[in-house]
Amino acid sequence: MYNIENDVKKVLITEEQIKEAVKRIAEEITRDHENSDKQLLLVCILKGSLPFTSDLLKELRIPCILDFMKVSSYGSGTVSTGQVKVKYDLSYETLEDYDVVVIEDIIDTGHTLSNLLVHLKNRQAHSVKLCALVDKPDRRLVDVHVDYKGYTIPDEFIIGYGLDYNEEYRNLPYIGVLKEEVYHR
Ligand code: IMP
Ligand code: MG
Repeated sequence: MYNIENDVKKVLITEEQIKEAVKRIAEEITRDHENSDKQLLLVCILKGSLPFTSDLLKELRIPCILDFMKVSSYGSGTVSTGQVKVKYDLSYETLEDYDVVVIEDIIDTGHTLSNLLVHLKNRQAHSVKLCALVDKPDRRLVDVHVDYKGYTIPDEFIIGYGLDYNEEYRNLPYIGVLKEEVYHR
């Protein structure tokens, strides 16, 4: 059996740290939405945000509903193309009755989120807030305001807890950095 943990150079954010961030963000979302008369709609951005969304969802005790979107900004490698395509859309046409919280795994160049924001505002969402587990501000090309943030990290390509390299490593329970030789395999 091959254990994918053999490919990890170092752990950057531990399972414990992820749990702490999820709890803190759930409290922040609750504080901002518990008195709203609109429904809270969590939008999980597939595929990378799946584990984060799942854990966050289970920490919330205020009423909320869940939906998914799939957008693409990356090719198969590690470089952003700047183009964002909606590949799978929400099941709601208009969003005026909803306070939307977009859940992202990571903000890198900012292209994905800034494009999504336009898309959601065009549908008249009552409010839109952005939530990201990881922020890589050094790589930002488009200015986006992140309302709920887990951790800020330096410019390193990371994998695990939903984040992939060529679609693999999403199943690691923590966030880490790959060994260099993996990229040349
Ligand atoms: P942005 O549009 O450049 O902000 O990129 C956001 C998307 O790029 C994320 O949702 C990830 O899918 C992907 N991405 C950016 N940085 C990393 C990384 O370090 N590891 C894995 N995926 C990443
Ligand atoms: Mg992603």
